[in-house]
Amino acid sequence: MTAIAAITGAASGIGLATARRLLGEGWTVIAIDISENQLAAARETLSNYADRLVTLVCDVASPAQVELVFAQIKSRHSTINALICCAGVLRLGSLESMPVEEFDLVFNVNTRGPWLCARAALPLLKPAAAAGQVARIVLLSSIAALRPKIGGGAYAGSKAALSQLTRVLAVECAGSGVLVNAIAPGTVDTPMIHAVSNPAQTGQYRPSGASPLGRVAMPDDVASVIWFLLGDDARYITGTTIPVDGGTIAAFVPPASGG
Ligand SMILES: NC(=O)c1ccc[n+]([C@@H]2O[C@H](COP(=O)([O-])OP(=O)(O)OC[C@H]3O[C@@H](n4cnc5c(N)ncnc54)[C@H](O)[C@@H]3O)[C@@H](O)[C@H]2O)c1
Repeated sequence: MTAIAAITGAASGIGLATARRLLGEGWTVIAIDISENQLAAARETLSNYADRLVTLVCDVASPAQVELVFAQIKSRHSTINALICCAGVLRLGSLESMPVEEFDLVFNVNTRGPWLCARAALPLLKPAAAAGQVARIVLLSSIAALRPKIGGGAYAGSKAALSQLTRVLAVECAGSGVLVNAIAPGTVDTPMIHAVSNPAQTGQYRPSGASPLGRVAMPDDVASVIWFLLGDDARYITGTTIPVDGGTIAAFVPPASGG
């Protein structure tokens, strides 16, 4: 029997790269996303692995949909080995001007969504751990949780809250053998960032851009760390948020002076 991962936001960017990596490593992947069209495109891209890939449409901001989708998973599998929460949204605007609906969307998808998914997945992860199998939760936070930026206050708040949930959930789950960690990427080359790369539309917000390592991350750079967190080498890591940012927040780089 192959190991099984449920991945939210699996139709694009980091989630899609993670699905590809896990399928390539022989895992079965349950790919969850709000976008039916993008899931269909992902199924096409990953068609080599069709026998180990299941796609399910779900809005992680909806408690009813999350409950339903995990009931579907439970009807097919008695255990899963990993929950990886990549579904997320970025909405920009100053905290003074952001509409309430936008603020709520950001928190409902980025913070409440992973909590709902983790709550629903634990009854499938705990029996895996009890049987001596891998049982891991990986949540996609952001360096915005550690070093927020103007114009991205709601996003930064949602990711900081997610990192705090990671810590508490990890300790609450420690006795059951389920390890819980978050990853905090800097700028990653995905559709989320493409959508906010036009300065004319982003107000004061700017993506962090190339790191001290001289480039932005590719989705695979993050998928590699997720893969590490699913492995035996990560057996003593829980409750932490791991930056994967090429040194972006290690030290402030002052802008070049005009002369
Ligand atoms: N790209 C970056 O620079 C970057 C940096 C730090 C953190 N992150 C985080 O990494 C995660 C993945 O981001 P990405 O860059 O791959 O973004 P992306 O936009 O490429 O992919 C996000 C996926 O989430 C799905 N999604 C959005 N709302 C959803 C909902 N309510 N329910 C279910 N699915 C939903 C989208 O349809 C999409 O397929 C996000 O949580 C993001 O905040 C990204």
